[in-house]
Amino acid sequence: MGTKKRCLISREAIAQRVAELAQQIGRDYAGRDLVMIGVLKGVFIFMADLVRALPFAVEVDFVRLCSYGAGTTTSGEVHITKDVELPLKDRDVLIVEDIVDTGLTLAFLKQHLAGHRPRSLKICCFIDKKERREVEVPLDYVGFPVEQGFLVGYGLDCGEQSRTLPEIFVIEPE
Ligand code: IMP
Repeated sequence: MGTKKRCLISREAIAQRVAELAQQIGRDYAGRDLVMIGVLKGVFIFMADLVRALPFAVEVDFVRLCSYGAGTTTSGEVHITKDVELPLKDRDVLIVEDIVDTGLTLAFLKQHLAGHRPRSLKICCFIDKKERREVEVPLDYVGFPVEQGFLVGYGLDCGEQSRTLPEIFVIEPE
């Protein structure tokens, strides 16, 4: 059986929500020493849009974690394949993630980054996919809550395919 993609979130809706998130983050972190840490690779498009919509400049860094194989199922184990490089001690750190599913990746990352003793540590994720949440992780900023389905586009991939599509699509059986 093949699959098809159905557009779930349009470019316009994405742009509007990114602007709202940037405004909210801009208000909450005004005058603070904000470092944004993006979780590669999926976040690269969202993060690029978000930082350019902020009312002030921020420092950015990235981590790369590996938990999924090439397909759509999680292995449950998380490894760091690229760690953070900027100093985080006593700074305001905001983790930026593309999508949260089981929560395992973020729970692991939050604990890892907390070890650097930041002044504050919060999470911004673009898509909150609640259907398979296994561990509770407080999400401080959420772009869109989504009930179910495997999503691609706007940085999200399925086995490295469809990452560069400008809209978000849900993959459905044909
Ligand atoms: P979690 O650890 O289960 O929360 O998974 C988080 C990671 O799984 C994300 O950073 C994505 O890389 C990947 N992921 C989870 N759901 C999707 C999806 O619907 N589309 C693409 N990637 C996903």
